[in-house]
Amino acid sequence: MALFVPFACFIILSTSFTTIHGLFSEQSPLSLSAIRMEKLTRLHFYFHDIQGGQNPTALRILGPPNKSVGSFGSTFITDDPLTEKPEASSKLVGRAQGIYAFASQHDSGLLMVLNFAFIEGMYNGSTLSILGRNPFMDTMREMPIVGGSGAFRYARGYALARTFSFNPKTGDAVVQYNVSVLHY
Ligand SMILES: *[C@@H]1O[C@H](CO)[C@@H](O)[C@H](O)[C@H]1NC(C)=O
Ligand SMILES: *[C@@H]1O[C@H](CO)[C@@H](O)[C@H](O)[C@H]1NC(C)=O
Ligand SMILES: *[C@@H]1O[C@H](CO)[C@@H](O)[C@H](O)[C@H]1NC(C)=O
Repeated sequence: MALFVPFACFIILSTSFTTIHGLFSEQSPLSLSAIRMEKLTRLHFYFHDIQGGQNPTALRILGPPNKSVGSFGSTFITDDPLTEKPEASSKLVGRAQGIYAFASQHDSGLLMVLNFAFIEGMYNGSTLSILGRNPFMDTMREMPIVGGSGAFRYARGYALARTFSFNPKTGDAVVQYNVSVLHY
């Protein structure tokens, strides 16, 4: 019986919204973190962006015609494998599904709008969302994690990315990602 008490409190407290601003929004005066423990999770994986060959995982879908793939406005959609190790044959832990676009006229700034959809262990079915700027020629890049689902509800944090290998002929890249997120 005692085991149920905290959980019951959580339900009662978290549904007693007292500040109601019309139909659109309502606000609870309670911080969820007072009731549930916030966790810090770190993830390590490799992102495989394959533009060449028979089975590309990144496709150019928009951009100026008759210009190089990396010109301003070039936009790609991805379904990039995320693996445990740098080798493409290593264990698949998820996929990076989304869009990146060459959004800078002055340097190598990409706009990243990606969902990491995980399939590994307790994170199977959970996602993290990235929305940020990726100066991909820099050795180390940082991008914000703006949310998540499943095990990553209420997620916020950051991703550090570093190019592991790049083939200038095909455009194929392997990028190491370390992600740190706070979530419930
Ligand atoms: C762009 O490339 C296409 C296909 O190669 C060609 O038909 C078209 O004339 C080119 N346009 C310009 C502005 O060069
Ligand atoms: C992940 O979950 C799906 C749907 O529940 C299941 O079919 C799949 O086998 C799971 N994958 C792993 C790697 O556990
Ligand atoms: C990721 O973490 C590993 C282990 O701490 C470290 O060796 C590596 O440099 C980090 N890479 C990035 C991109 O942060």
